[in-house]
Amino acid sequence: KSGGNCLICADEVGALVFDIGSYSVRAGYAGEDCPKADFPTVIGVTLDREDGSTPMETDGDKGKQSGTTYYIDTNQLRVPRENMEVMSPLKNGMKLMFEHYNIPAFFLCKSAVLSAFANGRSTGLVLDSGATHTTAIPVHDGYVLQQGIVKSPLAGDFMSMQCRELFQELNVEIIPPYMIASKDGVREGAQASWKKKEKLPQVTRSWHNYMCNCVIQDFQASVLQVSDSPYDEQVAAQMPTVHYELPNGYNCDFGAERLKIPEGLFDPSNAKGLSGNTMLGVGHVVTTSVGMCDIDIRPGLYGSVVVTGGNTLIQGFTDRLNRELSQKTPPSMRLKLIANNTTVERRFSAWIGGSILASLGTFQQMWISKQEYEEGGKQCVDRKCP
Ligand SMILES: Nc1ncnc2c1ncn2[C@@H]1O[C@H](COP(=O)(O)OP(=O)(O)OP(=O)(O)O)[C@@H](O)[C@H]1O
Ligand SMILES: [Mg+2]
Repeated sequence: KSGGNCLICADEVGALVFDIGSYSVRAGYAGEDCPKADFPTVIGVTLDREDGSTPMETDGDKGKQSGTTYYIDTNQLRVPRENMEVMSPLKNGMKLMFEHYNIPAFFLCKSAVLSAFANGRSTGLVLDSGATHTTAIPVHDGYVLQQGIVKSPLAGDFMSMQCRELFQELNVEIIPPYMIASKDGVREGAQASWKKKEKLPQVTRSWHNYMCNCVIQDFQASVLQVSDSPYDEQVAAQMPTVHYELPNGYNCDFGAERLKIPEGLFDPSNAKGLSGNTMLGVGHVVTTSVGMCDIDIRPGLYGSVVVTGGNTLIQGFTDRLNRELSQKTPPSMRLKLIANNTTVERRFSAWIGGSILASLGTFQQMWISKQEYEEGGKQCVDRKCP
């Protein structure tokens, strides 16, 4: 796992930039505007075994000799296959690079620095809300201030979990599209009436769950909205509803829930299943992080709050953040949120920063060669990639 780093490596053609997140991997050529590929950070694995056991039940590595097949990218992953398990491919990324793919040279750069860079800043507070974490990372003159990093697990996966619970409460089962042969038009809110495909391969639980998560994530992106002021039941009741239909035809107008679920990001005391928690809401993550940095550089951080990561794409996220931070920052300090409007730039900012960096002429002296790595090991990475 790259651990908050972007990886840049050389091949015969030029430099390749990888941003390996826990939700998706962004990969492409340096100098281009956006990554060539953006694929899920999971792989499908099938093992052709005589005893019929699946990779989960056996040692996955051993299977390498005996007809293991890997499936990557959305199109391949979404095909139902007999005994295909869904697994995380994140092992020791670096070894992989040199020994397996024979990469001649590479460089690691902190994702937060690159996100700031992509937004034209070398100093700023980078707020990254992805799948697993919401993190505030202070960047000063192109360097991460480690002591000021603040993390909270209230991010995209947490939103998915809450959406899953909502459907449980509604007593609505999530049926992924692969199971559905046909569906009838159903009255809103009524139980869906649909027909199951007859000839389905024997799929694994891990794959089925993966497919259910994809349905939930679409709902999450389409329906949720952060309210601009702290959640209030009466106000929420007045808000416009969003109509959403699940793949099996179940459909409903979602009202208060669509505001209530993401409220937990900003006000954890409000979040279900988190009672007695000490987790920080998004606004607090930012203010705590700035508060841990030297007083002299705080204005520079509040003056460039770079908002990035897929979870920040929930409607209303930046407006609410702006509002909370304006209330918490001293009036003498200029507050500026920098949030790209397009989905692409918000999710790809670290990759885009890496693409810019690696195409600069001055970058050429930063490469770590295969030989240097073999001689200096991990220490040369720590030295050359601060
Ligand atoms: N349009 C959207 N609206 C709301 N949420 C979204 C949207 N697009 C993606 N997400 C959510 O954002 C999260 C993924 O964000 P991102 O791509 O930044 O993660 P990552 O960098 O791969 O993961 P991490 O930072 O945790 O390692 C997922 O939880 C996904 O459901
Ligand atoms: Mg990320």
